[in-house]
Amino acid sequence: MSGFLITLEGIDGCGKTTQGRLLQARLEGEAIPHLFVREPGGTPIGEQIRLLLLQKEHSLITDTELLLYLAARAELVNTVIRPALEDGRVVLCDRYYDSTVAYQGYGCGGDGDWIRELNEKITAGLRPRLTFLFDLSVEEALRRRGHEGDRIEERSLSFHRRVRRGYLALAAAEPDRIVIIDAAAPAEQQHELLWSRLEALFSGRPSDEL
Ligand code: TMP
Repeated sequence: MSGFLITLEGIDGCGKTTQGRLLQARLEGEAIPHLFVREPGGTPIGEQIRLLLLQKEHSLITDTELLLYLAARAELVNTVIRPALEDGRVVLCDRYYDSTVAYQGYGCGGDGDWIRELNEKITAGLRPRLTFLFDLSVEEALRRRGHEGDRIEERSLSFHRRVRRGYLALAAAEPDRIVIIDAAAPAEQQHELLWSRLEALFSGRPSDEL
């Protein structure tokens, strides 16, 4: 597969979607073939599943929630992401399996090994080449979100703290893949850091030369 799968991760309100849009514009400006997708979503079925997951009317047990996220991912990976990678495109994905480990594993207390096993199965082992983790305090993220949240956003501060801790544990375990970005830094500075890491990846340069 010749394309690059790049994922954007972090707690709700960390600013990753804004950074994703900036990257998308940069890729467009550089005429690099790419695709920007989000999870859950990015396919007709995935967008329907997103509504089920985020609407506040529903209360779901953790396993139902987990399986719905995975169902949306199965659709997205198999019908959109793999074909785009096979086509040589850069695929920017706003959330991927680290979200499931962080939210349904660390956040909800789900079985991390089972989550990883299911993820492997439905993605056929498709891993991101690089993951940007936008790290921000839970308090600042809440302040930035400001508005009334969706079903997941409205969970307690302690839930979001567990998710953040989960992400940091994942980054510590895979430092070569997961790059921690200080999401409190100015947006332009974050963008330049992301871009320099991507340029290094695309040109095959080791990132410690930066
Ligand atoms: P978004 O607001 O960043 O688009 O993400 C939607 C919400 O879904 C967000 O609160 C994180 C949550 N989520 C999970 O809990 N598990 C997952 O596997 C994914 C992809 C998202």
